[in-house]
Parts: sequence; C-alpha cells; structure tokens
Amino acid sequence: MPQLERELPALDKPPSGSPPPTGPCVMVIFGGTGDLTSRKLFPALYNLVKSKLLSSDFAIVGVGRNDYTREQYQKIMGDNLDKFATSTVDPKLRDWMIQRVFYAGGEFHDPGLYARVGEILAEIDKTCNTKGNYFFYLATSPTFFGDIVDHLGAAELACEKDGHWRRVVFEKPFGNDLASAKALNRQVSKVLTEQQIFRIDHYLGKETVQNILVFRFSNGIFEPIWNRRYIDHIQITVAETVGVEKRGGYFDMAGTLRDMVPNHLFQLVSLTTMEPPISFNSTAVHDEQAKILHALQPFSEEDVLHCAVRGQYGAGVINGERVPAYKAEDGVPPDSKTETFVALRLMIDNWRWAGVPFYLRTGKRLPTRHTEVAVQFKRAPLVLFRDTPVNSLDANQLIIHIAPDEGISLRFGAKIPGAQMKVGEVEMDFNYADYFGTTANTGYEVLLYDGIMGDQTLYQRADMVEAGWTVVDPIIDVWKALAARNFPNYAAGSWGPEEATDIIARDGRSWRKISS
Ligand code: BG6
Repeated sequence: MPQLERELPALDKPPSGSPPPTGPCVMVIFGGTGDLTSRKLFPALYNLVKSKLLSSDFAIVGVGRNDYTREQYQKIMGDNLDKFATSTVDPKLRDWMIQRVFYAGGEFHDPGLYARVGEILAEIDKTCNTKGNYFFYLATSPTFFGDIVDHLGAAELACEKDGHWRRVVFEKPFGNDLASAKALNRQVSKVLTEQQIFRIDHYLGKETVQNILVFRFSNGIFEPIWNRRYIDHIQITVAETVGVEKRGGYFDMAGTLRDMVPNHLFQLVSLTTMEPPISFNSTAVHDEQAKILHALQPFSEEDVLHCAVRGQYGAGVINGERVPAYKAEDGVPPDSKTETFVALRLMIDNWRWAGVPFYLRTGKRLPTRHTEVAVQFKRAPLVLFRDTPVNSLDANQLIIHIAPDEGISLRFGAKIPGAQMKVGEVEMDFNYADYFGTTANTGYEVLLYDGIMGDQTLYQRADMVEAGWTVVDPIIDVWKALAARNFPNYAAGSWGPEEATDIIARDGRSWRKISS
C-alpha cells in the first residue's frame, strides 16, 4: 500500500471557536455502493474534511455486494463526490479523501466478507494510524442489520478493548413495528452495548430542528407560556412534493405512517414539548424526550377510526406538471393499499399538555415542500374594541420553519394605519439565512461528527424507538385489518383527503394555509 499524504492540503483556517477535529478512526460503510453513501455520506465527509473537523488519521472502507477493485471504487466515489458535493470540490481535498478510500465486496451473510474487512482494517490501522477505532455505518436495507451485527461480533470487530472504540450507526427504519424493533434491539444488544449503538434520524441533523431546543431553553420569555394555559393547539406539517421516486419497492412495504411518523414527526413532537433537561448531555435530553413519547396518549381502536386519517395520491398536477398516481409508480403494485399521506390528532397525557391537541400531517405529492411546527396560542380573552369594526381577533401563532426556509416567525395583530380602528395580521420574522448566511450541507455532517466523537445526543435511544412504535402500532393494526377501500383519495397536488380536514374541523379548528 503506498504511503498516504498525511497532512491536509492548506485550507482556510476554520473559524475561531470551531470544534476540535475528531480522533483517529476508520469509517466502514455497509451499503458503500448505495444511494445514501453517494448522495449524503461522502459529500458530508468531504464537508467535514473541508472544515478540518476530521482527524488526518482517517480512512473509509466501502462494503458492498458489487465486485469492485479498490481503484474502481475510488473512481466511482470520486465521480459521485463531484456530482453530489454541496459546493465546488477542491481537487486537492478530494484527492486527499479518495486516497483514504478502500473497498470490500461480498454478501452480507458471508463470514468470509468480515474476515476480509478485518484484514483491510488491520492494514489501515498500520498505514493510516487509525488506532483500531472503527465507526461502522449500516446504510443497507434494515433486513441486514441483525445479520451484519452478528457477523461483526463473531469476527471480533465490534468489541472494544485495549483502549480503542467500536460504534455502529443504524440507518432508519429501526424495525417496522414494536415487535420487530424490540427483537432487533435484543439481537444487537447481544453484541453491542447501548453506548456503541447509534440509531440515526436525519431530522436531528437539521439546524432548525436542533434550534427548537435552543429557542425554548435559551430564552426566558417563551418557556412560561409554553403550556396548556396559553397554547391552544400545535400543528406539525411535513409536506413533500416528491412521490416515491426510485424507492417504490421499499415504500410500498412501509407506507407514510412507518416511514415518517414514529421517527421524524415524533422527534419534532418531543423536542417541542419536552421538559427542560437538567443538562444537554445525551442521557438528560433522551430522558426528557422519552418521557414525552411515553406520555403520548395510546390510540384505542375507536381512536384510530376518529383520530387517524390515511390517504393515497392519484394522478394530478404539481407545479404545473402532470404526475402519475402512486399505483402507477415504479415498483408499486397496481392494487396497492399503502398510504402516502397521514394525518393524526394526538394528545399528551401530562400536566403541561393535558387538553392541548397536536395535529400532525405528512404526505407525498402535496402542493409544496414545507416542514413546520406551528404553535397556536389562545386568543385574547375579550374583544375590547367596542364601537369599532373589530369584532373578532385572530390567535397569535409562532411558527418554526424547518424546510425549505429556515427560521421562526411570530404572527400578531397590529393596528392598520388610518382613522378607523382596524386590526391586521402581521409577522415578525427571523430567517436563518439573513442572520447567519447559508452553508450548503447535507444535514449528515453533524451526525457523523458527533457519532465519531461518541456523542449520542442527536441519536435515538432504544426506549425512544420502542415508545414511538408503541404509539403507532395500534394504527398499523387497525389499518391492516380494515384495508382502505377508497384509495386513491386525494389528487397529487392537493392537501390530502377530505377526512384530514375533518379531524381538525371537528374541534372547531383548521389547518394552517401554507402557500405553494
Ligand atoms: C426519509 C423518508 O427518512 O425522509 C423519505 O424515508 C422522506 O420518504 C425523507 O422523503 C424526508 O426527508 P427531508 O429531509 O427531505 O424532509
């Protein structure tokens, strides 16, 4: 193996106050030839290299089922990096990174593959000074998770001894219901301790999602009103314009409920509603998130019928373009009963939130891409403007914009200038880009950096994953028993089925109008 160029090429200095680089390690990516690796993981690693956040004692091993040589894999990943990087690629940095790329091909169930991976790692430890620290990333279909971990254990690649560390990241979904998530937790915990297990939810890599905690707990003025006395209800919308793209096969097995709710949407719910943690270390934050997930009111069969709505898109028009029905997508059976839209009405059984409904909606092929948490406060107790044209007042709303615009806005009533007393709705806006500029990123940078540093705060603990599945399991069961008979029930480019309007209208409320 040729000697590696150890020093990074000269770069701009990282901004002062920037975190320290990671220690030495090898990142081993199972699913190294897959889409996630090319589109997200390599570009994120490149951004870490560029920001000087990775140790110069670093290497990457791609593990996949294709029969590539190391040189072929390096070429493919170099080309993919050029294609998917979030900014112009500096050729020197690219070379520095690609020099550190290795490949092992084989079947994930074959013990021989793990022996080869072990040999490559031992060699890398010698040439790259990576000190036996391995960061395994399972970017494969979840059906392989258990098997891969068993094999890592059998090949002694997962055990921490002599001062080196071994960690394993699991891409989502972690299980496909409560029973399978529990079984997987049991299986992997035979090989790994909880400190070695990193269950990813890429929503936690988003700045605005992390900012929910900072917004709540670094400002004195919001926390006193963040409860049932002042908040009328909370709406969470995760709307996508995309369909299932090339993932029809996976998606049709999962559906929107499993794909989005117990993970991404429940992260937003728990961060928005949790009690202040006693510190920002992972145990303290996870403890509070877990408490909320446990406090989500369980759905009875009756509740599922009234408080959970499913939909599937038919053909329609988005941004002026005709798009096919879900059932006509690649990899989707023409008689599919899988949902592509979900709306839920949730309650949280604790003192802070008793009686405050949470309305959640998420779907594919909606009119616009938009993710937000909208907190609606109670109205002013009385309309004081006697003898004026003002006879009703709107409620204040605080909106946390997560995508595509990132920021926070507060809506309130203001006097419309003029002789007559009239009240209009105005918005006070904070936009991330205006204040902090934009740094193009994949959202995986902070997750990878934290994982390599051993910080689990932005990852999910076993009990959090299980608590999420506990809430959605009854919905899965009822929907399975009563297959949908009216699919497709919304046109692509609309805001979902009529019933989604009903679950909120029944409470005398309405979904926020989000413009496309
Ligand atoms: C993934 C889901 O976890 O999140 C996809 O599997 C979904 O179906 C995606 O499209 C949404 O992520 P983002 O970051 O685009 O909101």
